Amino acid sequence: MDNQEIFPRHIAIIMDGNGRWAQKRLLPRKAGHAVGSETFRSVADYLNLHTKVEYLTVYAFSTENWSRPKDEVDEIMRLLRKYMDEACRTLLEKNVKLHFLGDLSIFPEDVRREMEDIHALSEKATGLHINVCVNYGGRNEIVNAVRAMAREGYDMTKVTEEEITAHLYTVGQPDPDMIIRTGAEKRLSNFLMWQSSYAELYFTDTLWPDFSGKDIEEALAWFRGRKRRFGGV
Ligand code: FPP
Repeated sequence: MDNQEIFPRHIAIIMDGNGRWAQKRLLPRKAGHAVGSETFRSVADYLNLHTKVEYLTVYAFSTENWSRPKDEVDEIMRLLRKYMDEACRTLLEKNVKLHFLGDLSIFPEDVRREMEDIHALSEKATGLHINVCVNYGGRNEIVNAVRAMAREGYDMTKVTEEEITAHLYTVGQPDPDMIIRTGAEKRLSNFLMWQSSYAELYFTDTLWPDFSGKDIEEALAWFRGRKRRFGGV
């Protein structure tokens, strides 16, 4: 296979740096999230239209993010709702599949229903599969999986990796091949703790609102240069 044809099947992104991007411009942090949500749209469109990447998972809101100032939390929730409303209108045309992953029980019923509707509406799409992680925490996901298995009557002394994998929010999906973190920090921050076991980790100083098609191409080129061994030689 031509080297240029090697794509990660699944890219996950920690979209970091919105606040700093805004502060550098003397704008409120909220403004960084607004531009960051546009960046997310264009990155998703780019991957869908110009690459063979099959899955994109983004960290939009963590279980820890509730501790941010109320106006910032409200703005991220407003942007999410705006994206959901827009998704209802554009998903079929774009042929993308959209899932919301996380502990969704915290959201009001109308929001949960819209998430379910979007899930169902886009189920037959054959283009990019997008997971938006909201009220998501990697450890919390594993705890929830174990609790679900206990409720389902599994013999917990004989639990296998495959069984835990099948109880995660990402059930049925391949693990991410590459995790991108923008904004210069080098940590995973409780993102995809189970699924990231063999992921290539790509860190860039670029702040999320500045991330562009050129930055994706650089990340994809870096990925092509990696030799993946999965624990072998
Ligand atoms: C991290 O930057 C970013 C977030 C906590 C929120 C990400 C949310 C969006 C991009 C908008 C909503 C998403 C969708 C899918 C519509 P930060 O605020 O921690 O930045 P900093 O490290 O510079 O402070």
